[in-house]
Formats: sequence, structure tokens, C-alpha cells
Amino acid sequence: YMAKIPQAPPDRILGLVNQFMNDPNPSKVDLTVGVYRDNAGNVPTFKSVQNAQHLLHTVPSLRKDLSYLPIIGHPNYRNKVLNFLFHDGCPEIGPEIIYQDRVSFVQTLSGTGALSVTARFLSNFISDSIIIPQLSWANHANVFKNNGFRNISYYPYYSNEKIVLKDWLNHLINIQKTDREVTSNSKPSCILLHACCHNPTGLDPTKEQWDQILDTIYDLNLIPIIDMAYQGLESGDVLKDSYLLRKVLNKKRYKNWKNGIYLCQSFAKNMGLYGERVGSLSIILPETNSGNKSTSIRENIDSQLKQIIRSMYSSPPGYGARIVSLILSDKDLKDQWFLDVKEMVDRLNDVRYKLSQKLNWNSIIDLNQQHGMFYFTNLSPIQVERLKNQFAIYLTTDGRLSLSGINDLNVDYICNSILNVL
Ligand code: LMR
Repeated sequence: YMAKIPQAPPDRILGLVNQFMNDPNPSKVDLTVGVYRDNAGNVPTFKSVQNAQHLLHTVPSLRKDLSYLPIIGHPNYRNKVLNFLFHDGCPEIGPEIIYQDRVSFVQTLSGTGALSVTARFLSNFISDSIIIPQLSWANHANVFKNNGFRNISYYPYYSNEKIVLKDWLNHLINIQKTDREVTSNSKPSCILLHACCHNPTGLDPTKEQWDQILDTIYDLNLIPIIDMAYQGLESGDVLKDSYLLRKVLNKKRYKNWKNGIYLCQSFAKNMGLYGERVGSLSIILPETNSGNKSTSIRENIDSQLKQIIRSMYSSPPGYGARIVSLILSDKDLKDQWFLDVKEMVDRLNDVRYKLSQKLNWNSIIDLNQQHGMFYFTNLSPIQVERLKNQFAIYLTTDGRLSLSGINDLNVDYICNSILNVL
């Protein structure tokens, strides 16, 4: 059997990082993975995180042993993150939802861990079909495929430098109709939504378009899975950027979203905690008919999540969770965190602006419309390949470029090389 195992293709993002590391060219530039770098090319530890680390190491009451965390995560982390997402992020309705006991919440191994647990839970109990934007994070389909999903399909998202809303919605309506007619498939499908800073295009629907999208997917009984990996990187304000969650929770009829709403969230990007793998999954349950608390349903779901996590990786790591809970518990640290996010986004916007000035393309998408860590260049795979082979500049094949790899020292080299391959 072993001899028959085929070689898997290299990861479309991290595989390139490997290639980059082995490239001997001294002028090489890594614009692949979504990791924030400062102008000196370093991955900075946020000031808020440094301060929290200092406290964790020096204040005796905060010093902890290295024993296991509970399966569903650090108790204080759970409490603080729940509060941050639902009280701070959605003050109009979040507290009521928490009071009604309608959130099943677990600490996860960052956003990928949250998506994996979601996929495993849904495929065990509710659905094994998902519709993903036709351009999406390279790992999305992979996560669902490897966690029990049998049907993965794509909805139109982007064409000719724009979001194709009409095609997107028509596609959803058509496939739901065909599904019912042809397969009499009674199981609902899931739909993957990027909460903000769509990866890779950096283009998000407007607030009004979101209303239309959410109404359609609610009417079609699709299950929303919201990937919130870049909260804060759109506006520089983490709370402002949870607008999609607010929209989903605030609208009255959505409290009947009967198979739940799945929020997969991560502190990798917005706290720079990439390697610590710290994030969360919140499953927001529908309101019970009687208006009573949803405790027993929530407890059943919690118990299933526990079993899934126990079988996958037993329990999450502790250090990142302690940093996050400390930052969210202390006003000064939290204020500093907000400033850190703003500083990161200011630099990304500055790089974006410089790039648009230096490239001065008329035919290429207005890059100032895009948000987040990336610039979606619209370069073809052949042009991307030439950038790599001729200039040792590494982008993902879809033409996505990680802005923070650009700094004062390499910006001219990068822009001249891009103009050269056009
Ligand atoms: C990216 O898209 O580059 C990031 O989400 C990092 C990753 O794990 O792929």
C-alpha cells in the first residue's frame, strides 16, 4: 500500500515560503504568506504583547505551571474573548445572546483550528456540503475536505476587478433549486463568508450588499461559516471590523437561523500571535421557541465539540491564550493593543499608497479600494512565475502580494520588476 501513496502537491502558500528559504539569490523578496513585517523586514512582537509577556514572567500571581489546559480552553480566555466578541463587538444584542446561553464557545488552534473543528462538527451532525468563494484562502477547501465534507463547490466572487454580486446570488439560488430537484437532498449546505479583508482579493461587499447576501442565504437555509481572520486590518479598529457579525446578530429574524451561525476567529494577524495558534469558535444557536434559555442544546453541542477536540489534539496550548486574556482584561494593555493594530494598518496603507504611486497602472485594479494585508495584483500565473525566476520575488500564483514584505529598501526593486514582467 505504501508504495502506492502519491505525492501531495506542495501547499500553495507555505510551499512557496520553503522555496523562498532555499533560494540563494541575495535580492530575494518574500511577498507570500500573510505575516506582518515592519519596515526593517522583521515580524514585530506587538507592544501590548511584550507588556503582557513581561507581566506573565514577573508577577508571581500570573506565573503558571505548564500543565494542560481544559479541552475547550483556558477559562479566563474563554470568558474574556466571549466578552470581547459579543459584548464589545455587538453591544446591541451580544449581551442578550450570552444571557440566553446561546453561544457554544471553544478556544481553538487559531483560525484553521476553528475551521477544522467546525467542519468536523458539521459533517458529523448537520451538513457535509459547502460553497466557498471561487477565489478564497488556499487552505479553505483543504480543511473541509479533510474533515468529512464530501461536496465542495464554489460561488462566483470576483471578475474584472469587481465583486460579482448578481452572479454570486443567482448561483446560490440555482444550486439550491437543482439540489432539491435532482438529488432531493434534504441536508442544508454551508457557505463560507470572509468577515472582512477578503483573502486574496482584499475586496469586500458593501454594507448594503451584505444585507442582500445575508437575506438570500437565510432564505435558502444555508449555514453561514464566518472566517474572521483579519479583524482590525480593514479599518485599523478591531471592533469596527466585526460589522458582519453585528449584522448577522442584530437582525431579528436571523435569531431563527436554525442550524446555527459559525464564527471562526483568530488572533494570529491582529495580535501578531501567529505561531502561538490562538483563536476561537463560537456557534451561535437559534433562539428557543419558548424564549427560554438554550442551555441543554448548548451543553449537548459543547460536549460534542469537546469530544472532537479531544480526538484531534486533546487540548489547546496555553501561552498565547494567557497573553490574550491578560490583554483583554487590562484597560491599558487593551488600549495599547488597539494602537498596535492601528500602527500596523497605517503602515500597510502607506505601502499600498506608495505602490500605487510608483506603479501608476491604469489598467490594473485601483489598489486603494482593497483592504488588509494583501494586494491582489491581477498578474497572471506566468507573470508571477517570471517574477520568481527572474527577480526572486515570491507571490502566490493567484497574483496575491503580501504588502508588508515591501519596505523602503526594496520598494523600487519590486515595482521595477513588476513593470518589467507586464
Ligand atoms: C495567508 O493566507 O497567507 C495566511 O492565512 C497564512 C496561512 O496560513 O496561509
